[in-house]
Amino acid sequence: MPIVKGLADVVFTQTEISHPDSDNSNLIYRGYSIDDLVKGNASFEEVAHLILYGHLPSEQELSTFVGQLVANRTLPEPIYAWLKALPEHVVPMTVLRTAVSMLANYDPLIEDITIPTTLRKATRLIAQFPIICAAFQRIRDGQEVIAPDPKLGHAANILYMLNGKTPDPDFTRAMNAYLVMLTDHSMNNSTFTARTVASAQADLHSAVTAALASLKGPLHGGANEATMKLLLEIGDESKVDGWVDRAFETKRLIMGFGHRIYKHGDPRARHLNLLAEEMGRKVGALKYYTMSRMVEQAVLRHREIYPNVDFYSASMMYYVGIPIDLFTPMFACARIAGWSAHVIEQYKDAALVRPKSEYIGPRGLVFPPAP
Ligand code: COA
Repeated sequence: MPIVKGLADVVFTQTEISHPDSDNSNLIYRGYSIDDLVKGNASFEEVAHLILYGHLPSEQELSTFVGQLVANRTLPEPIYAWLKALPEHVVPMTVLRTAVSMLANYDPLIEDITIPTTLRKATRLIAQFPIICAAFQRIRDGQEVIAPDPKLGHAANILYMLNGKTPDPDFTRAMNAYLVMLTDHSMNNSTFTARTVASAQADLHSAVTAALASLKGPLHGGANEATMKLLLEIGDESKVDGWVDRAFETKRLIMGFGHRIYKHGDPRARHLNLLAEEMGRKVGALKYYTMSRMVEQAVLRHREIYPNVDFYSASMMYYVGIPIDLFTPMFACARIAGWSAHVIEQYKDAALVRPKSEYIGPRGLVFPPAP
């Protein structure tokens, strides 16, 4: 039987949730192009509803969904106490992963994997992810945790809880667009992980905890942080070309480039490129955006590899003021909606994910008989 390394091009299930249309460099969420959602200023709440429930919300449905999100912007007290007791060197993605696992213990319906209960859990987790991230950030900075503002939308509230100030409308717009573009992406590594766990009929928190473990990796969601570190390492516009030449000479992976599906460009990168430039101009410091453009041009001189979603989101989030090690948790704040929708779709599919491997180890070894 042929071995498909990394399951590349293997179709393991059907989905109605999203489709990366690589031929047309487009990403579709339940029939809508993300280009239209971004250009039409769709809110993350509308898009999360679309992804979870299968249709854009009516006015009434949106108001109910937003009300549920606002009502769930809270954590059990022991989780705040745990955040306060963490050692200094912790990694935010590990904190988020552990916090989600802990939250399972405070959910009396944890073992109920029916669709209505799973939707309620999903809504709670969408609301709770930013609370975990912001509370962690404030505590490690030695500052008071900021209570969420029920009047603020999802993106604005994240920035508000991080900084304690009413966020700039342009920063809010950029963060909202980022969350919209990252809400789902078909069978990426973390979503496949979530579906694999769900296929064993484990609960949503278990599937999401596993998905977070996958997203942390630098070949997946961790690439946004790795991209910013790369820009900081290069340090200056004048060093870009030499750095990229050396990276190719030494066969070093350039973070934020390449994609398993999009071989002619990632549709999300187009929007993030524009947003990164806009935010750079706004803060009056275009350096990292300019360097990003130069890295893109230098990479293309070597090889036809294009920036992926993580490349321009790095400088964009940096300009918005997100700490670098919170870039991947911000990715997770969007993707929790997609993971949840996939877990529900997998429950409906009801097929245990269990591929095969080809055994190439020894055979016939003899265990010595008991003396
Ligand atoms: N830097 C340098 N070379 C790269 C590259 C990158 N970021 N991405 C791909 N390539 C090269 C590969 O080394 C390979 O070279 P080869 O043909 O000489 O062996 C070739 O381009 C084709 O890539 P391939 O290995 O088929 O891609 P993949 O589908 O297996 O991997 C990624 C996709 C995302 C894992 C890969 O592009 C990567 O590691 N990118 C950097 C991490 C990243 O940004 N991840 C976020 C993804 S959204």
